[in-house]
This record gives sequence, structure tokens and C-alpha cells, in this order.
Amino acid sequence: MLDFGSQYNQLITRRIRDFGVYSELKPHDMSIDDIKRFNPKGIIFSGGPNSVYADDALAVDPEIFELGIPILGICYGMQLMAYKLGGQVAGEEHGQYGHADIEVTVDDTLFKGLPKEQPVWMSHGDLVSKVPEGFELVAKSKDCPITAMQNVAKNFYAIQFHAEVRNTKYGNDILKNFAFNVCHAEANWSMEDFIDLQIEHIREVVGDKKVILGLSGGVDSSVTGVLLHKAIGNQLTSIFVDHGLLRKNEADEVMDSLAGKFGLNIIKVDAKDRFLGKLKGVTEPEQKRKIIGNEFIEVFNDEARKLKDIDFLAQGTLYTDVIESGTDTAQTIKSHHNVGGLPEDLRFQLIEPLRSLFKDETRELGEKLGIPANLVWRQPFPGPGLGIRVIGEITEEKLQIVRDSDYILRKEIAKAGLDREIWQYFTVLPGFRSVGVMGDGRTYDYTIAIRAVKSIDGMTADFAQIPWDVLSDISTKIVNEVGGINRVVYDVTSKPPSTIEWE
Ligand code: XMP
Repeated sequence: MLDFGSQYNQLITRRIRDFGVYSELKPHDMSIDDIKRFNPKGIIFSGGPNSVYADDALAVDPEIFELGIPILGICYGMQLMAYKLGGQVAGEEHGQYGHADIEVTVDDTLFKGLPKEQPVWMSHGDLVSKVPEGFELVAKSKDCPITAMQNVAKNFYAIQFHAEVRNTKYGNDILKNFAFNVCHAEANWSMEDFIDLQIEHIREVVGDKKVILGLSGGVDSSVTGVLLHKAIGNQLTSIFVDHGLLRKNEADEVMDSLAGKFGLNIIKVDAKDRFLGKLKGVTEPEQKRKIIGNEFIEVFNDEARKLKDIDFLAQGTLYTDVIESGTDTAQTIKSHHNVGGLPEDLRFQLIEPLRSLFKDETRELGEKLGIPANLVWRQPFPGPGLGIRVIGEITEEKLQIVRDSDYILRKEIAKAGLDREIWQYFTVLPGFRSVGVMGDGRTYDYTIAIRAVKSIDGMTADFAQIPWDVLSDISTKIVNEVGGINRVVYDVTSKPPSTIEWE
């Protein structure tokens, strides 16, 4: 799929993989040579925010229409196809957003086996007003007379509506028709194949050389470690930095599982004193983050330097990280900076076996590799760890409070069966004291805040609506079991305007 900037693009790629057909999102200006090397069964032009007439309109190399590969244009992709092949596109005043009913006029390809009338979801400024020569109309609607078109001889197809959103009732069937009836793709993409292929590939690339991996205890690096270990055994050395800002039992769980069960060769570095020493007296959030980030790189580099003859650095980079690093089309959301901190004398080749996977696919891969559910289904945890959940200066006492309250929260959320439903949940210690009464006495203790959000990618989030009785149990347990707490509050802000973490 070539990316013209629509926010739904990843979703289409994902849908197609769900059919068992391997699919990747590529920049719209991918070269013809690269396309030939990739050798796709079919190409999709995605939607996008531009108008084909705009000065900065995103285009494709026109030679793409000569390759003989089936093409499906969606929304902007349809307009681009029409425009490039001699049709006409009409502008702004034709915009249409939301539900529309379409009538299928030809049902031999994309609409094969589907009802003549069907609801779809439109979201477009421009529309095609004249089909290019050789094309025929295949669907129409009241406000969009050319809703779909095709040129079967050339294998070009286009739809104005969004097949990938749920409101387009038969969207999945239309995409399936394109994949199977038009492109004759086979449904042969499975996680087992992926594992075999990756193992083969890793062995080929690494040969008899050595690899290091930074383990964080998160899903991505754990899955990377187990996969690499399966491929090259003890040619892999992992470094696990315990910065003293991990959750309760986290370091032990990671070591027990990855070193114990899977036999990974892990160097665990206990760097708590080093981190807490550097953080002493520091209260400003960005400064805390910087200190933790830099120290992490230093500790990792110190350990890496002690190892001899390492050629490769493995990373758990995911497909979303690759996309978020920014293509020409998608905006840069977050720069992927994992390799930024390597000094001159430590230059490794990179190996990133999860680069083509989405998070849920990584979890599936982890399960297939036999990694326990509590590791595979771990909620996101930030690099700076509990260090940004103790607001202001970090002390051992405060870390202990956050660690213990977080542990109770996690247990209770799991007990209520909400652990996979809520995207992320944790406790925060704002660091002020207030008055309470316990037994017959006055207390003057800390407040703990509960943060729980629903999100898809962490970029935006809604606060989770945890049932009152569950919240009530959590509150009671925290106050009773964690020393130094006499008040529990619930954060009811979404992102934006807040962020998920408090610092
Ligand atoms: P915010 O607080 O920016 O968080 O709304 C969005 C998501 O990112 C996680 N997060 C981080 N992850 N390093 C990470 O690996 C970081 O420095 C970092 N800061 C925030 C956060 O937990 C949430 O899932």
C-alpha cells in the first residue's frame, strides 16, 4: 500500500494481513525499482488529505501504471488514478463526510457477491467527475455520481469511499475481493511462517558473529530476545539494566522467565545507586528524564564495551516505530532514537526482527514463542519508569510507596477482569501531604493518584471509567496496606489536555 497520508492507512495494512495476505505500507514515492524488487501481487493507493490539484499534491511515478500489477485507488487514491490517466476531478464544493448509500452497477470484481445497495463511509473534499478512457462506472450514489470505477483490461480499480472503516458495511469484503479475486493473492501469511522465515534470515545475516540486545522487560525487547535466542542461541548476549525505577517484582520476573525458562544469557546490571545518586535533589521533570535517559545509555555502553567482538545490536523496533519516525507522507510523531546514543568506538550493525510487525502481532508472536502471558500482555511502561511517577524529587521512600500502590492497583484491576480492557493504569505520587483521620488519630500523609486510560496508540487517550466498587476496593487496600498514604484520588482528565504520565 502506498501512503498518501490518510490516518487510516495502517488499518488497511492490518486488515489485509488479517486475511492472511502479507501487506506493508510504503511511501508514495517508492521507486519503480523498489516496487519491482518488492514484487507485490497488488498495489493500493491510500486516501490522503490533499487535492490532486494542490501545488504540493503527492504523486506517484507514472510508470507504475505500466507495471501490469493490479491497482486499487481509495479516495485520494481514486482521484489520483483518474487525474493521472486522463479523467477529471472536481473540487471543494463537492465535499462529503459521513454515511452514504451507494448503488452497485457492475458487480463482477470488487463488488462480487455483495448487495446492489449498500451503506458506505465517505470522507472527501474532491471527487472524480469524469472517468478516464477505458474505465467504466461500477457504483454510484446521489451526491457522488462516480463512486467506483474500473478498467478490467488494465486491472485498475477505484472507490471513493473508505473501505477500511467499520461504517462501510461490506468494506472488508471489498478489500478481500481485491486481494483474492483481482490480485489472486494466497492467504499464506501466518505467525508460524514468520517465525521460520525470521530465524532463517537471522542465521543468514548473523552467521557466526555475536549480537547484543538491551532488554527493558517490556514486550518488544523480550520477544526480540527470545526469537534471536531461538535462532542463534548463545551468540546473543542481553543486557538488562535495573535502574531501580522498575515496578514491584519486575526485575525478578524478567530474569526468571527469560534467563530461567528460556535460557537467555543475560547480564543484569544493578545500577540503582548510580541512578538515584544522579537524581538526588532534581525536581524538574525534563531534567529527570534526561538524566535517566543519559545514564541508561552510559550503563549500557559500559557493559557493551566489556564484551568482545560484538558485531550486531538487536532492537525491538516495531512497524509503528518505523512509521512514526516519519515518511515523507506521515507526519513525524515521535522520532525513533534508540541508536542515537552509541559512541564512536561502539558501532554495531542493527538487527530489528520485529520491524514489520504491529504491537498485537508482536504479542501473538510472543505467545507462539511460549512467553508467559504476564510478560506478553504487559501494559506500556515508560523508559524512565517510576521516576516520572514520583512527582518532584525521587527518594527511596517515595519510590516504595508508588511501587506498592501500583502493585495493589494492578492486582485489583486484574481481579476485576479489566487488565486487557484498560490500556494503561498506574499510580502517581504527587508528593503533597494532607490531613486525615485513621483510628482515632489525626494523620498527615501523602495522597496517591490513580491514572487509568483507554487508548489505541498512546497519542490520545480517554480516562477509563473504572466501576465505583472496583475503585472503592483499590482505595481501601492502598490506604490500609501502603504506609504513609491517607488519601486516594482518581485522575479524570483525558489526553489532550493532559498527558498520560504526569511528568
Ligand atoms: P504521555 O505521558 O506522553 O505518554 O501521554 C504516552 C505513552 O508513552 C509512554 N511514555 C514513554 N515511553 N519512554 C517510553 O518508552 C518515555 O520516555 C515515555 N514517556 C511516556 C507513556 O507511558 C504512555 O504509554
